[in-house]
Amino acid sequence: MAENWLEGRVLENRHWTEALFSLRLQAPALSFEAGQFVRIALDVGGERVARAFSFVNPPHDPVLEFYGVVVPEGPLSPRLARLAPGDALYVAPNPAGFLVLSEIPDAETLWLVSTGTGIAPFLSILRTEAPWRRFRNAVLVHAVRYAQELAYRETIERIREAGKNLKYVTFVSREAHAGSLAGRIPDAVRDGRLEAAAGTGLSAQGSQVMLCGNPQMLRDATAALVERGLRKHRRRSPGHISVESFW
Ligand SMILES: Cc1cc2nc3c(=O)[nH]c(=O)nc-3n(C[C@H](O)[C@H](O)[C@H](O)COP(=O)(O)OP(=O)(O)OC[C@H]3O[C@@H](n4cnc5c(N)ncnc54)[C@H](O)[C@@H]3O)c2cc1C
Ligand SMILES: NC(=O)c1ccc[n+]([C@@H]2O[C@H](COP(=O)([O-])OP(=O)(O)OC[C@H]3O[C@@H](n4cnc5c(N)ncnc54)[C@H](OP(=O)(O)O)[C@@H]3O)[C@@H](O)[C@H]2O)c1
Repeated sequence: MAENWLEGRVLENRHWTEALFSLRLQAPALSFEAGQFVRIALDVGGERVARAFSFVNPPHDPVLEFYGVVVPEGPLSPRLARLAPGDALYVAPNPAGFLVLSEIPDAETLWLVSTGTGIAPFLSILRTEAPWRRFRNAVLVHAVRYAQELAYRETIERIREAGKNLKYVTFVSREAHAGSLAGRIPDAVRDGRLEAAAGTGLSAQGSQVMLCGNPQMLRDATAALVERGLRKHRRRSPGHISVESFW
């Protein structure tokens, strides 16, 4: 099917580590809700290769931003990581996705739980007004293998400095890191370490949980939350857990 691809230009490609990069793009205006994604593409060997990327920028920011990791054998991500300012890439005209606040019920605490680049949609959501209007507080959880992969700490600090009631809990799983929890999110849900680190409760009565990133984490964390009495959220049967898998 023919598609009306938009053309974007790279303004900046920031490298956090050898594998982690953030692309900032100038592109025609796109209408989306924080938490959504859009396909971005490059032509590779005469074929357009497109992949979904979550917006990191909030909708009111006209510069598009995407946070990616190099999957060495992947067809697109190594090429995106090598883009330089001025380079062109394609952006699909139709953002989509259901990991958005307009899909979930009100609660006291909004839990935004991510692994790796799965933090991207939450950075967009947290820079809109909706979470602060609808929830008493929010907890951003970010799990990475190594401490240097805790990207966007300054952005998160700026949100906190602006007076938003945001707790930030990090996991570093493959080295010891002061100030971060060790191990994995589902275990910390079960043994209470996650709530202790956040300083707030995690319950069906008071929480909405959005999960994004590694599909195994989504599955294992959902199982741990179900043990605590939370249920998957569906439009027709409201619950407490909403997920978006990156692969
Ligand atoms: C709704 C949605 C939103 C997404 N948003 C983002 C985003 O904001 N940032 C981002 O980096 N990726 C995101 N992805 C994944 C992205 O679309 C690509 O799959 C990824 O960039 C790798 O592309 P590739 O062509 O190099 O390899 P692919 O052939 O697409 O992937 C090969 C393998 O790499 C692994 N992989 C893919 N994505 C990731 C990842 N993000 N982290 C760790 N391992 C991964 C998986 O094992 C996958 O099977 C999203 C995917 C979906 C479905
Ligand atoms: N040099 C490079 O090019 C380079 C470097 C790094 C990554 N990469 C690419 O990126 C991919 C990895 O991305 P990533 O670091 O975001 O990986 P990831 O495997 O999703 O790990 C991120 C975090 O999620 C945790 N996790 C994994 N499975 C989980 C589960 N079932 N439940 C709860 N937590 C879980 C990990 O813990 P554990 O540590 O316990 O698994 C880690 O803390 C690799 O496959 C590779 O393709 C490339």
